[in-house]
Amino acid sequence: MDYQDGGAAFEALVGLLNYPMFVVTTQADGERAGCLVGFATQVSIQPRRFLVGLSNKNHTFRVARNAEHLAVHVLSSRQHDLARLFGEQTGDEDDKFGQCGWRSGPHGLPILDDTAAWFSARILERLPLGDHVAFLLEPQAGQAPEKVGRLVTFSDVNHFDPGHPA
Ligand SMILES: Cc1cc2nc3c(=O)[nH]c(=O)nc-3n(C[C@H](O)[C@H](O)[C@H](O)COP(=O)(O)O)c2cc1C
Repeated sequence: MDYQDGGAAFEALVGLLNYPMFVVTTQADGERAGCLVGFATQVSIQPRRFLVGLSNKNHTFRVARNAEHLAVHVLSSRQHDLARLFGEQTGDEDDKFGQCGWRSGPHGLPILDDTAAWFSARILERLPLGDHVAFLLEPQAGQAPEKVGRLVTFSDVNHFDPGHPA
């Protein structure tokens, strides 16, 4: 049969998808962290569950290892610069939170100003899945309007130069 090599087909396919992007933030031991995340999705309706994949190379992952909660933000399309800040800089070298507006939210989580919507969540499990670790989340609090305009999606940011190689 005339199939493409599985790996090549898979990589081509995922490159075509245009899923929403998130900024995931956290704090532990007095340290704040956050990065741009594409590997994130709801995985259960009842109970409410959400999964976030954090690269084991990222500063955010290292802080999240000791954290009890994460905050998940979606960005409106006019927040391209915020996406770039969290996707191209690393907390290993830069203070991202000195370069954007934020406030302390539930459980001391850094909540970014003026995002389209966000929720905070308790970390239920950490599942090593390869070069990313999946954080299984129980959403707890947040803010979301009834409608949003266009959000930052993968095609808006797939040319970024990540702060850490994947
Ligand atoms: C399009 C795109 C998608 C990304 N998806 C993820 C992701 O799902 N999980 C992740 O941990 N990092 C992801 N990153 C990489 C981080 O956002 C990036 O390396 C960041 O600079 C890490 O910051 P930190 O070291 O402060 O955590 C993505 C970056 C880009 C540009």
